[in-house]
Amino acid sequence: ELHQSRNLLLSGRKVLISAGPTREKVDPVRFFTNRSSGRMGFALAEEAGKMGADVTLVAGPTELELSNSAINRVDVTTAEEMYHAMHEHFLQSDIVIKAAAVADYRPKHVYDEKMKKQDGNLTMEMERTKDILKSLGEEKTGQYLVGFAAETSNPLENGWKKLKTKNLDAVVINNVSAEGAGFHGETNIVTFVNKHHEQQEIPLANKQVIAEEILKLIERNLKDEEE
Ligand code: CTP
Ligand code: CA
Repeated sequence: ELHQSRNLLLSGRKVLISAGPTREKVDPVRFFTNRSSGRMGFALAEEAGKMGADVTLVAGPTELELSNSAINRVDVTTAEEMYHAMHEHFLQSDIVIKAAAVADYRPKHVYDEKMKKQDGNLTMEMERTKDILKSLGEEKTGQYLVGFAAETSNPLENGWKKLKTKNLDAVVINNVSAEGAGFHGETNIVTFVNKHHEQQEIPLANKQVIAEEILKLIERNLKDEEE
């Protein structure tokens, strides 16, 4: 009975998730990226699917595969492509979770030919990418919007700042310097903080388990809001 009413909350809802790194091109053979594996976002997509949600996963470059063929997977490479894919699906979504590790900068100039090395140092000018999550926060029309925060110091304070400045409903704070946590490995340790400043620590576990806990917390928050 309890299980059923819990499942009903995510069941049939449109859930939009982003996962993985982005890749920002320098020339035909080089790019900038980061150590995100995509595992946290893929685990969220799989778990949301199991809970009956209608899931769209916008994925940056990763080797990962989905086991649930009902999930709508949209592959992207750059931050700019992720921006467009997320906005394309945003308005018709109920819950949006931004687990991707988006590049903050990209090379200002992209070379058509492979860059030739020269004597001495190379200085490359980088420009800011769009803050996708912040732009979604500005466009929100009732979507429950969840961001991630990757921090190596003052995780709670920095995570809370991101919730505020990006107009989020909740933020999943990832202390990437803690043992067993971070965006590359199989496990994670996170703190879930909602806009009412309620916080819940999810201790060291496999990313599948962390994903399930995050989704349960989102459900609980949605339920509280709908009451
Ligand atoms: N994010 C985004 N678009 C960007 C950068 C980040 O959508 N160009 C999103 C991430 O997907 C994540 C959240 O913003 O959900 C926080 O990302 P994070 O890198 O922790 O924070 P930033 O806002 O980029 O700030 P900083 O890296 O300086 O800590
Ligand atoms: Ca960043």
